[in-house]
Amino acid sequence: MNVYDSDRMKDSLAPLGYQENPDLQDADIIVINTCHIREKASEKVFSELGRLRKVKQRATEEQNREVKIVVAGCVAQAEGEEIIKRAPWVDIVVGPQTYHRLPDLVAKLDPVQRSHLIDTDFPPEVKFDFLPEQMGRRGPTAYLSVQEGCDKFCSFCVVPYTRGAEFSRSAATIIDEAKKLISNGTRELTLLGQNVNAWCGSGIDGKEWGLARLIYALAELPDLERIRYTTSHPLDMDDELIKAHAEVRKLMPHLHLPVQSGSDKILQTMNRRHTASQYLTIIDRLRAAREDIAMSGDFIVGFPGETDEDFAKTLSLIDKVGYASAYSFKYSIRPGTPAASKIEQVPEEIKSERLASLQQLLDSQQFAFNKTCENIVFDVLVNQKAEREGQLKARTPYMQSVYFEGPDSLIGKIVKVKVTNSKQNSLSADIVRQKEAI
Ligand code: 5AD
Ligand code: SF4
Repeated sequence: MNVYDSDRMKDSLAPLGYQENPDLQDADIIVINTCHIREKASEKVFSELGRLRKVKQRATEEQNREVKIVVAGCVAQAEGEEIIKRAPWVDIVVGPQTYHRLPDLVAKLDPVQRSHLIDTDFPPEVKFDFLPEQMGRRGPTAYLSVQEGCDKFCSFCVVPYTRGAEFSRSAATIIDEAKKLISNGTRELTLLGQNVNAWCGSGIDGKEWGLARLIYALAELPDLERIRYTTSHPLDMDDELIKAHAEVRKLMPHLHLPVQSGSDKILQTMNRRHTASQYLTIIDRLRAAREDIAMSGDFIVGFPGETDEDFAKTLSLIDKVGYASAYSFKYSIRPGTPAASKIEQVPEEIKSERLASLQQLLDSQQFAFNKTCENIVFDVLVNQKAEREGQLKARTPYMQSVYFEGPDSLIGKIVKVKVTNSKQNSLSADIVRQKEAI
């Protein structure tokens, strides 16, 4: 979602004359969009700000040029004033729900007074209604935020505090934005939300729609070829959505559905509100709807109170599911969340050991999944040129990166390829037949 937000911030600064600049040393405004989900991500912000201080100083001393530094995102939301205290060279602190005000904040900055502006409100207005209509090109695959915030309050997670309460955009504004992206060349959309399958907005018929209905409506857009959505919560995986996986050809057979742990005791203290077997039942139902659906997930090891036995249950759940890919993390204490004050914190070495064995299992599943793709013909969406001359990089329906020889004119097109080789993180292939003429 930060990628999406960064693009929208870029769009919002364009009318002021700002353009993306790959050279940091040459920039007039530097926006750092931050993540608060784990301590490591959060702390990285301050080391990065140390580096930016030097960039700003050099511009002032050597070129007499004023560089503005903006801290946006969830660290901005959570730390607010504290950022200015620790890094007084920052000019603007703006949260994830107020970045539509960024152009005003930039205009208001007074370089003589060296003022600082902080805007971390949860405003009554909806930022999407105030972002510029004009959007830059995003490429063959693009994100589209449909839902934000979270009401689930998992006991380890900061999102409900930093992103705020659940909010769903209306179907009409989403379809409008989708059309703009498609007319700019996008062929695959990933609908985004912290809790995307909790999306519940007003439909174009004035009735309340769920995510499945929105997917059916988007699937009718002619030049849109592929739809994905992320991230989902098991509790919101309703019958309609499962049915959409069976019926909507454009909905890709890949789902990111985090479970976090395989132990019911831990799931309960995490406040996930489902058991391991309920999660497995959802996956069985998804597979019954779409036999080839590939699963992805998130896991946390070393949550407070997690014993060897609890951890073994997570490994056993992973064995049962067979993931095509997954993300896994050591539990990270987040101040202000209920789990942070639990006394049964797991020692760091145990967390590291468990993470290593969990990742070994997940890696072996990913490797095995990639292997099953060898000699199979896929329709893949070509995203960009690969680093190697003459090669293209595309995405399979299952989200794998696939590399093959082909002309640049295929970028943005769906191409049939036969997988010749598989590795841990990618596939190689040969073109079989093109859907459209080169
Ligand atoms: N510690 C470790 N991982 C976390 N996540 C969220 N909060 C924490 C935390 N405090 C992980 C979860 C979530 C993903 C986005 O980040 O697995 O699904
Ligand atoms: Fe955080 Fe996801 Fe739980 Fe919401 S559902 S609190 S975003 S982990």
